[in-house]
Amino acid sequence: MQKTLILEKTIYTLGDLTLPDAPQLAVAGRSNVGKSSLINRLAGRKKLAKISSTPGKTQSVNLYRVEPGSYFLVDLPGYGYARRSKAERDKWAQLIERYLTTTAQLRAVAVLLDCRLPPQASDLDMVSYLGALNRQVLGVLTKADKCSKRDQQARKAQWTGLLGGRPPVLFSSVTGMGQEELWSRVDALLGQDEQSAEEEAP
Ligand code: GTP
Ligand code: MG
Repeated sequence: MQKTLILEKTIYTLGDLTLPDAPQLAVAGRSNVGKSSLINRLAGRKKLAKISSTPGKTQSVNLYRVEPGSYFLVDLPGYGYARRSKAERDKWAQLIERYLTTTAQLRAVAVLLDCRLPPQASDLDMVSYLGALNRQVLGVLTKADKCSKRDQQARKAQWTGLLGGRPPVLFSSVTGMGQEELWSRVDALLGQDEQSAEEEAP
């Protein structure tokens, strides 16, 4: 079933960081890796989240409510973009860090990784940071349309090792590759089956 994504909230500052009491999956990754494009592809809408070929487009925490399901996909500002002032980078790092450390309803973090690139230091830092926080990580290899089949499999195998044996999803916002697999991994992580079982219980 096609799900509907609704932009419910945009957060720019720590002071605005009040969150709904509903399960959440954060979408993290380096600037330009394709976070907002992935949200648009999942929504089946080209212009829901703003995308740009210039890194650093998303500068806020954006909460998209998913229906059916009543959970949230949370588009985070990208990390690892050097061409910003230190003050700006610090501000975003604080916002992301506060979100990741304090959100009780955060069930998992999708870490988006560019299929074309070897693991980058900032990606490895993010994965180990999330591990230290005991957060579930869902790896997603983006821009798979730009990689040969052979490179896709090699990159997937490489990240499977780095993600503690859990294979990442090969994904393309251009072709839609991996979309169904991603939805089913998201549904499993956000406990939708459990929740509907509870709702159905007498
Ligand atoms: P920030 O908001 O800056 O952190 O970036 P982002 O991770 O949200 O990336 P965004 O979705 O804005 O995409 C960055 C660029 O990559 C855009 O030019 C997209 O068109 C392109 N892009 C994103 N996903 C894909 C994909 O699956 N395949 C291809 N070929 N291009 C993609
Ligand atoms: Mg973005």
